[in-house]
Amino acid sequence: MLPFASSFTTLLLALSIAATPLEVRNSPITLPIARSLNVSGGTINLLQHDQARAAAFRGRPASGIRRQSDNTSAINMGLSYTVKVGVGSPVTTYNLMVDTGSSNTWVGSGTAYVKTSTSYDTGEPVAVGYGSGSFEGTEYTDTITIGTGLTITQQSIGVANTSSGFTGVDGIVGIGPVDLTEGTLTKEESTTIPTVTENLYTQGLISEIVVGISFEPTNAEAITNGELTFGGTDATKYTGTIAYTPLTTTPLASTFWGISESITYGSTIIMSEITGIVDTATTFTLIPSYAYVAYKSATSSTLDQPTGLLRITTAQYHAMYDLNFNIGSNTYALTPNGQIWPRSLNTYIGGSSRSIYLVVNDIGSPGAAGPDFINGYTFLERFYSVFDTTHSRVGFATTLYTNATTN
Ligand SMILES: *[C@@H]1O[C@H](CO)[C@@H](O)[C@H](O)[C@H]1NC(C)=O
Ligand SMILES: *[C@@H]1O[C@H](CO)[C@@H](O)[C@H](O)[C@H]1NC(C)=O
Ligand SMILES: *[C@@H]1O[C@H](CO)[C@@H](O)[C@H](O)[C@H]1NC(C)=O
Ligand SMILES: *[C@@H]1O[C@H](CO)[C@@H](O)[C@H](O)[C@H]1NC(C)=O
Repeated sequence: MLPFASSFTTLLLALSIAATPLEVRNSPITLPIARSLNVSGGTINLLQHDQARAAAFRGRPASGIRRQSDNTSAINMGLSYTVKVGVGSPVTTYNLMVDTGSSNTWVGSGTAYVKTSTSYDTGEPVAVGYGSGSFEGTEYTDTITIGTGLTITQQSIGVANTSSGFTGVDGIVGIGPVDLTEGTLTKEESTTIPTVTENLYTQGLISEIVVGISFEPTNAEAITNGELTFGGTDATKYTGTIAYTPLTTTPLASTFWGISESITYGSTIIMSEITGIVDTATTFTLIPSYAYVAYKSATSSTLDQPTGLLRITTAQYHAMYDLNFNIGSNTYALTPNGQIWPRSLNTYIGGSSRSIYLVVNDIGSPGAAGPDFINGYTFLERFYSVFDTTHSRVGFATTLYTNATTN
């Protein structure tokens, strides 16, 4: 019996080793997210930035090609949400924009890439157009350090030799679906590039391909009040339970973090159920033209030319209803305060300090291609969000700030 038992044990060991090739540390990794409104370049046109970005999302071919040759013009992005990511050994730290709407990770728009012994030049040209900006350069692999010294080896990263539209940040950490990287290696049209989240998983640092994001409303110009969690969610950042909705299979929303939702303003239907996306790097919440017109009418707001935003009076503000986002069987209500831009930041976006501006705007007419709405930062600062590749779903939960009156 002994030889059998021992070889059985050996077999079990071999099996378990094969099943778990790497040590799984299994604990989520959390990083603080800094938010910064860069007004040094003068008034920032956040709406123009968002609409250019949305147009690029909507004009994107079903597969591949997000090139600089996509007809893009650079727009100072003004508002950024960044995490610190270390690259190389010794580490150089970069402030990278957290972007759920793209999936390439790259550096070089601010702090120049510092090559070290872990840097490997693949020689592959890489290019991505974002509508509001773009970069091109060369794909490297390098060691990435995140959080408290956790390292990903041989992470594929872009090193920009040219970029536009990314003032005040050093690049992007792309946490969208991996398919968005297809066509970005310009000589390998059908190749995708494993994202940071995927490599954290395949290298055994997290046990699920999940990202949790906490933003909090603020009226400060610069503050570190957000949190990015790789591999799980942070129960201290939300209240109640997280409700999940499946990722949509409807193109093109399905290329991104795409979901279905309908919207009501009070009891007025603004938008019946359609598909769109959730995007951290879009500031406003954009809805189709017909829904925007319905919202404008329901709020009795007027178009403010300087900002491009809808404007209301104080009396109208006090008469506002919740804007309800119906997702699956749950309703996420943006309160009146959640529907307005922080008043103390009005002048930075070209507005008047005495006016009240709404954060819901127009994505354009519904297209054959979609996505037809974007739940952007102004939605995400009121609801904790979870981007779950492992279970093909997106989750939302209320937070201590869902009903805050910061604006
Ligand atoms: C590209 O941009 C140029 C200049 O802004 C414009 O004239 C042209 O119509 C654009 N082309 C496409 C295909 O959008
Ligand atoms: C920048 O990178 C692209 C893609 O690799 C390449 O085609 C271009 O020649 C490079 N430009 C400069 C100025 O090095
Ligand atoms: C702010 O934007 C300007 C360009 O408008 C840029 O030159 C500057 O580096 C940025 N500063 C910060 C701190 O992001
Ligand atoms: C927000 O306020 C509404 C209405 O008062 C209430 O029903 C809801 O529970 C509140 N939500 C949170 C997360 O506090």
